[in-house]
Amino acid sequence: MDNVYAPGKNHLFVPGPVNIPDPVIRAMSRNNEDYRSPAVPALTKTLLEDVKKIFKTTTGTPFMIPTTGTGAWESALTNTLSPGDRTVSFLIGQFSLLWIDQQQRLKFNVDVVESDWGQGANLDILASKLAEDTAHTIKAVCIVHNETATGVTNNLAAVRKILDHYGHPALFLVDGVSSICALDFRMDEWGIDVALTGSQKALSLPTGMGIVCASPKALEASKTAKSVRVFFDWNDYLKFYKIGTYWPYTPSIQLLYGLRAALDLIFEEGLDNVIARHNRLGTATRLAVDAWGLKNCTQKEEWFSDTVTAVVVPPYLDSAEIVRRAWQRYNLSLGLGLNKVAGKVFRIGHLGNLNELQLLGCLAGVEMILKDVGYPVKLGSGVAAACAYLQNNIPMIPSRI
Ligand SMILES: Cc1ncc(COP(=O)(O)O)c(C=O)c1O
Repeated sequence: MDNVYAPGKNHLFVPGPVNIPDPVIRAMSRNNEDYRSPAVPALTKTLLEDVKKIFKTTTGTPFMIPTTGTGAWESALTNTLSPGDRTVSFLIGQFSLLWIDQQQRLKFNVDVVESDWGQGANLDILASKLAEDTAHTIKAVCIVHNETATGVTNNLAAVRKILDHYGHPALFLVDGVSSICALDFRMDEWGIDVALTGSQKALSLPTGMGIVCASPKALEASKTAKSVRVFFDWNDYLKFYKIGTYWPYTPSIQLLYGLRAALDLIFEEGLDNVIARHNRLGTATRLAVDAWGLKNCTQKEEWFSDTVTAVVVPPYLDSAEIVRRAWQRYNLSLGLGLNKVAGKVFRIGHLGNLNELQLLGCLAGVEMILKDVGYPVKLGSGVAAACAYLQNNIPMIPSRI
């Protein structure tokens, strides 16, 4: 029984977990199967080939692990680094903070580069650290591509450029949890050594699969990395890849069929079109926020995120009340402000299986809530600004022309 029933559809606008497309739900509605039968390895083989496309890699080796983004982090770190290794890691919001905490608990020597929440990674400091590090003590640069807590997207191409400028051999480890499949992401071109994502974000699947992709250099590093790892050991996967059965332990059959359907939908739309759609959703949201007279938590345009917008509320309002009201009165789920920005921002997630008219429903809901809590918003202002932009920019649906 759904004990929180409300009529109609819940407007799910948290930045993950996101809406699951109906064809994916149908594809997952099936019995368990013997994963040692020939069918599952055959399916797995196509998935391993096809997930490379969402990372934009031909040389990477993917691992589809029964875990979440947090486990994918651990897989990336423990397979490539040894305790005591120095990492440079950027602290810009709650998820980069959690990744840094994991690095510290795994006993790496973490060189934290902190910025105000709302700013991107400070790449000038990275450059000076790399310039000083002629002995190459820095073993990895760890960065969250899209900080989901603040709606900040970091410039990965710029990180690669800095590494190359100093000819620094550090591994480049990237959390793409709220970016891959939604934002421009180019593993090979940007020389990323480990990239990772979680199934419940832009892939629009249930939670439960972490996808980690390792470059040849990362695989080489895994041969000497001394961190203790058992469940996450890439070697166990590689052994089963070699013999063609693929799984060192039991995969979720339903998630595998779901992933097949999710990838088929993404390829049918076209990955570049998916990215362009996210840009429209992000732009429309930002226009609405401006029209409401509110501020984006993201402090500069170069860091604006097309997957999540953190909206700063005036000091006399509690953003948690906005999120609570959204759910209680309008059946709209918004993201809370986390940690340092708790009470100060609410987040609109605009990623995954979502279209523009759905977003307009969310924006209309936010306007009514703002009015409910005493913010002097002109009803329709944000929706009108978003519509004016979208009406000029939504392309025809290719399969319907
Ligand atoms: C950028 C980012 N990294 C990592 C995580 C952690 O992922 P999970 O909750 O799936 O463990 C999240 C979760 O929202 C995230 O947004």
